[in-house]
Amino acid sequence: MRDVIIACDFASAEATLNFLDKFEGEKPFVKIGMELYYAAGPEIVKEIKKRGHKIFLDLKLHDIPNTVRKAMSVLSKLDVDMCNVHAAGTVEMMRAAVEGLTREDGTRPLLIAVTQLTSTSEERMQKELLINATINDTVVKYAQNAKEAGLDGVVCSPLETRLVKDSCGEEFMTVTPGIRFADGQVGDQVRVTTPEKARELGSDYIVVGRPITAAEDPVAAYRRCVKEFCD
Ligand code: C5P
Repeated sequence: MRDVIIACDFASAEATLNFLDKFEGEKPFVKIGMELYYAAGPEIVKEIKKRGHKIFLDLKLHDIPNTVRKAMSVLSKLDVDMCNVHAAGTVEMMRAAVEGLTREDGTRPLLIAVTQLTSTSEERMQKELLINATINDTVVKYAQNAKEAGLDGVVCSPLETRLVKDSCGEEFMTVTPGIRFADGQVGDQVRVTTPEKARELGSDYIVVGRPITAAEDPVAAYRRCVKEFCD
């Protein structure tokens, strides 16, 4: 099932709820990232859930396995639909994340791993992070690690979706930010593509922030994404 996730990168609960009010009857899948979570805490997660939205809690955990396990067990009580970690934290850390997130009854939200941020270019990854490989090889290796640890998929650029699916299987989910309309601004993102192209490339979910949140008519921009990506 394909869906469009709106990155609600707002600085307050008020700004977020005002934004979501514009959608009236529609209940888009919403991503709550660091900015909003640090500003408004678990209460905003509960409020958005109460309004009937699905939630991707994008806190990108990356720490020692024990800390990640305990943090995930706290997050599991928030009843979100999807959470994530950085694959760079290693297979052991990702396994700990799965353990922490799994509730007593065996259920848990979807768990995905960030491979390389879509703002990272291959040149910076090699020069600054001293990763002596291509972006594609790094993303595929991180995806394989995530699969080995029992995760459901990865966050990657739509441009890497095919490689991930070829290596980890069609069922292994790809959640892809770095989405821009053909006639829109790229901003700080580097490895970008359009909703239509992301669909052709096989993404399961696209994460779209500023092309919707900063649009003059966000509801129309959301519908354009859905039309290009889902229909
Ligand atoms: O505004 P824009 O469409 O660039 O927003 C993309 C969203 O996806 C942001 O919330 C960003 O934190 C998130 N993200 C990303 N690249 C990743 C993982 C998450 O851009 N690899």
